Parts: sequence; C-alpha cells; structure tokens
Amino acid sequence: MNTEQVLDIEHRLMSPGVSQETQLADVVFERGEGSYLFDIEGRSYLDFGAGIFTQNVGHNHPHVVNEVKQQVDKLWNVHDGSTEARAKACVALHKHLPDELSRVAFFTTGAEAVEAAIRAVFSGAPPQKQKLAALRYGFHGKTQGARSLVHWDIGYSNESGNSVLGYAANCYRCPLGRTYPSCDMQCAQLVNRHISSKPNIAALFFEPVQGAAGVIVPPQEYWSMITQVCKDNGVLLVADEVVSAGGRTGRFLASQHYGIEPDLVVGAKGLSSGFPFSMLAGTEALMGQGEFAGAGATSSTFGGNPMSCTAAYATLEVLDNEQVLESVEAKGKRLGGGLRDLMHEHEVIGDVRGIGLLWALEFVSCRKNKTPAPDIAAQFYQACMKAGVRVCLGGNIVRIGPPLNVSDADIDKALAVFDQCLQTIAS
Ligand SMILES: Cc1ncc(COP(=O)(O)O)c(C=O)c1O
Repeated sequence: MNTEQVLDIEHRLMSPGVSQETQLADVVFERGEGSYLFDIEGRSYLDFGAGIFTQNVGHNHPHVVNEVKQQVDKLWNVHDGSTEARAKACVALHKHLPDELSRVAFFTTGAEAVEAAIRAVFSGAPPQKQKLAALRYGFHGKTQGARSLVHWDIGYSNESGNSVLGYAANCYRCPLGRTYPSCDMQCAQLVNRHISSKPNIAALFFEPVQGAAGVIVPPQEYWSMITQVCKDNGVLLVADEVVSAGGRTGRFLASQHYGIEPDLVVGAKGLSSGFPFSMLAGTEALMGQGEFAGAGATSSTFGGNPMSCTAAYATLEVLDNEQVLESVEAKGKRLGGGLRDLMHEHEVIGDVRGIGLLWALEFVSCRKNKTPAPDIAAQFYQACMKAGVRVCLGGNIVRIGPPLNVSDADIDKALAVFDQCLQTIAS
C-alpha cells in the first residue's frame, strides 16, 4: 500500500479520536532504526519524541531485536505463568529500583498499573482514609480510576471526584501569581495545608516531573516540603513515573533527583522499547497486604507476558551495557542549551524547560502576556515533520525527548531544523 491508500482506509474506518499529531501529519511510518523513523515512502525522520518517550534506547536496538526474536520462537503468552523472561525482568528492574521497593507486578499499560496502585493503596487503607489525592494538571491515564486522579481538561474530566490538593510548581504560569524564589514555595505550602487538614487521605498520586502538562520541573525544595508532610500524616506516596522511569530524566527514577522515597512507583513507557509493558513496584508491606496479596490480585490476560518482559529486560540490559544513563545529563544540557538559544532568537517561544532528555517549548503569541499559541505550536510541529524531525505536540506545548542514546550530532541536527522551522513560521 502507499501513503494515500493507508490514510484513506484509516480515515474511513478508524474512530476519529486519534492524536492531534496523527491528525496533522499525513505520514505512514514503516520502520525505525536508532533515533530515526522511516515512512512508507522511504523518507527519514529524526524521532525527537522517541515514540512517546518509549524508545529510550532507540528504535529496534539490535540487542532488543535479538532477544525478542529468540523469544518469539519460544512462547508468547501463558496466563500469568512463571517464565524465565519474567524472572529476568524482575531482576533487571531490581538492579535499578530503590531497595525498599522490593516487589514488582507487571501490567500492559500505564493506566492499568495506576489502577493497580489504587487497589494496592485501598487494600490496606484504614476506614477513615478513603480518599486519594492528586495534583492539578497531573496526568495518570484514561481508565476510570486513573481519570479520577486527573483534574484538568485533557480527555474527559467529569470522572475526577477525589481531593485535589493544589498545584504543581509551574513557575512559568504560577497559579498563585507568585515568582520563584520569593514565593516561598506557596504552591507546596498549599498542598501541605490540605494534607495536614484532611485526615481522610490515604495516598498522594503525583508525577515528580509532570509530563503531559508540559514538562513541569519543580524546584528542588518542592518535593522535600511535601513528602515530609505526607509522611507525618500517614499519606502514602505514589510516584507515577510512567514517563520518567527508565532514565528519561537522567536518573533511573525522577524521584531520585528530589530525594523522594515513594511507597509505590508506577513505570511504563521507557522500560520496554515500545512493547506493552508496565510495572508497579512497592514496598514489601504494601504489596503484600490484604486483598492485594490475594490470588489473582495482580494478574491479567497480557500482564507480564514473556514477549513484553523480554523487551523490558533487554532494554534495561542495553541501559547497563552501554552506560546509557551516564550521558543523559550532558546530552540534556546540549539539547536544553540549544533550545534556550532558540528562545533568545524567536519571540514565539515563551518558555523552555526540561530535565535530562525531557524538554518542552511553550509557544505564545505575546511573551509579555504569555498568551498560549496552539496554532503556532501546530505550525511548528508540521514544519518539523516536513523537514524530517518528529516532536510531540499537545496544545501550545511541544515536548522534545529523543532516545537517551541519541548522538550529539543528531541533537545539533534537530536544533538546526528547529531554528529553520521557527524562521519559516515567523515569516
Ligand atoms: C504520567 C502518566 N501516567 C499514566 C499514563 C497512562 O499511560 P497509558 O497511556 O500507557 O495508559 C501516562 C500516559 O501518557 C502518563 O504520562
């Protein structure tokens, strides 16, 4: 089939709610290799979205391909059964996870693992603690339980019914109208006031660095302030690291940057090179309590299947064997520095922020008023695709996150394309 034929079928037969990126790009992808994607017509694209932050070691890494190919000849699924692949995934994760998080359970999507985290919390929560808490603009998935933690207008927000504890530290658009550092971290203080005044909260679900909201990287003290008050008030810490687990921010978990000691951690995207795999890691006490320790509590049809587990342990082996995490900070500085240079040149960029290899450009039509400009962001996205660089688009924000083993040369190449595209859309 050619591009037109594929798109014609998809437009006629698929439900229309595909991503904005898909709606705006008439591209049919065929294969990937390292930091590059290739479309069905043979055009190449530097993938600075790494799938959707899934391809931490790039597309089709030879070691992952090799392990998956061997597994494909052996066994694909046997309901929740013990396999060597699953045992290897356990070991590979334990090598990187904090010692306290000694138990893992495997699922297929981020939302499914968030749901499992909710079940784990409630299986031991005392009767007076029956509420979950989350931060405004956090994203935790689109299933019903996960949606109950999402308090903003992406997707359907009408299911959100639980406590909202306040704000992440979005310093560019401070919801309290303050400026860092003279603000005294009022956003964190507000969260803490809620936590200490509401005895019914069992757990706080949070992204250490909010991803979908546009890479909101809090100042260092934000999390130390909040986590201490949670601990003092018996509120469990559930870190949703669906985007960040696996080294996206430069440490295996983003929590490690902030000294957060979560009771539960959810990971998914970057752990398995694009195969459907997610994990819930937790303390012995939490994972082994009440109903959550009962037969079948963590099993599902595809959870922990040997294909996904193989992709996961092989991906983590690449991280180790090629010392991928060691260079993320330096590469992030190169990318972030380049993006900040672009901000000096181009008025339409209102803010540049990021950590490790997770970055965001926020597009505005007026810098002074910070007027969001989703139309300019969409133009930028389309221009980049035309010029052969793929980024992730959401509203007026473009997120940029190449594979963690991207070369310096490809970072420079992408930055040059961004510059060119910004010039084109300005003219
Ligand atoms: C922080 C976070 N949690 C949960 C999810 C849901 O993951 P999934 O789409 O695999 O269900 C996402 C998805 O982007 C996410 O960014």
